[in-house]
Amino acid sequence: MEAKFIAFEGLDGSGKSTQIRMLAERLRMKGRRVAVTAEPTVSALGGLVRDSLSGFTKRTDEELAALFLADRVAHNVNPIWGIEKLLGDGNDVITDRYYYSSFAYQGLRTDEDWVYAMNLNCPAIRRPDLCIFLDLDTETARKRMAEDRSFREIFENSEAQRAVRERYMEVFRFLEGRENICIVNAAASAEEVADAVFSHVQALF
Ligand code: TYD
Repeated sequence: MEAKFIAFEGLDGSGKSTQIRMLAERLRMKGRRVAVTAEPTVSALGGLVRDSLSGFTKRTDEELAALFLADRVAHNVNPIWGIEKLLGDGNDVITDRYYYSSFAYQGLRTDEDWVYAMNLNCPAIRRPDLCIFLDLDTETARKRMAEDRSFREIFENSEAQRAVRERYMEVFRFLEGRENICIVNAAASAEEVADAVFSHVQALF
């Protein structure tokens, strides 16, 4: 059966890593091969992105949007760990964040049409078969984050998170009919959320 490409999106603290782990386990139990990746990536470009997110290197919003784009191209085409290579080897690929994050985070700060266009029109950037958005109110997301992190990146404050969540919703409205996007309520228990996620994923097969 054809390998699938699935993107997870959500606010910081929405439980993406837990849900990705649980989905990968469930798919493997079904006998599928699964590879998990993330953005920013492990490439040198991803390193440049992280330097900016931490506030270590100050960059303009346009520089950051372009760096995310370049890192995303690397994520697709890298001959060892790239999405195309992993899918070609028969793995379902699950990514922790993808271009929807650029639409939500960078789209808030610079020209949204430019951010959409450079990502959606880039021949090297694959469209996911499914995007799962783990939807959590900003207060719960903040509490969950407070529990397991002491360090905050530049977008991790509640004002920014509220704006980002609203922006994600606008992005999904904009992409409606063109992309397969499922919004999952992430406030329930991890098992319940995993069940909801799995039902959307099973619909792909
Ligand atoms: P990171 O701490 O690496 O992962 P996460 O919070 O998902 O566990 O943070 C990634 C940060 O980068 C997050 O705040 C969202 C932001 N981001 C963008 O602004 N644009 C993008 O295109 C991507 C992929 C991420």
